[in-house]
Amino acid sequence: MWDYSEKVLDHYRNPRNVGKIDDADLIGEAGSLACGDSLKLYLKLDGEKIVDAKFQTFGCGSAVASSSILTEMIIGKTLSEAKEITNKDIAEELGGLPQEKMHCSVMGQEALEDALKKYYGETDKESAVSETEEKIVCTCFNVTEKQILEAIKINNLKTVEEVTNYTKAGGACGRCKGYIKDILERGVHVRKRDARVLVLDLLHYGEV
Ligand code: FES
Repeated sequence: MWDYSEKVLDHYRNPRNVGKIDDADLIGEAGSLACGDSLKLYLKLDGEKIVDAKFQTFGCGSAVASSSILTEMIIGKTLSEAKEITNKDIAEELGGLPQEKMHCSVMGQEALEDALKKYYGETDKESAVSETEEKIVCTCFNVTEKQILEAIKINNLKTVEEVTNYTKAGGACGRCKGYIKDILERGVHVRKRDARVLVLDLLHYGEV
């Protein structure tokens, strides 16, 4: 039996900002119905400020609670402030989530990133990723290498089981577990490569 914080239970029982915004300025999506849970996030802007946010989610109580708290966290923030929010912040704001449910907080972060990506478009250097990182690692849950790397980095994940808890990758047929293990093992190398990619980006744009 999982232990849920009072705040998780409250947001699950009384979710805030449920629904859609018909004239939303930005819409972000994460997950998919085929994979068991999905989230659609609607944002209304006034200039760079998020003045309203609503969500529609299909998923468990933790997915509802994560989406609900996320809308509360971003309303009133500027887009650049919202960009800093990670799944860790969402889980912390909820007073924690069971490890097995951390993927719900990741889904929130991904929907937010998806919405912001549309605003910043192709010009956002930080969202530029290599082809390798876009490669699908887990076909059961449609999880990319980039999503796994990000979850590892933000949450300091060390084991395949932890990666499954945070991204769902490896949680069905298990065929991708070897690949996830490889990603974990070359984590340090990948982090160095990320740093190199960032430096090359900055050089390209003349910022260093
Ligand atoms: S391919 Fe990842 S669980 Fe099936």
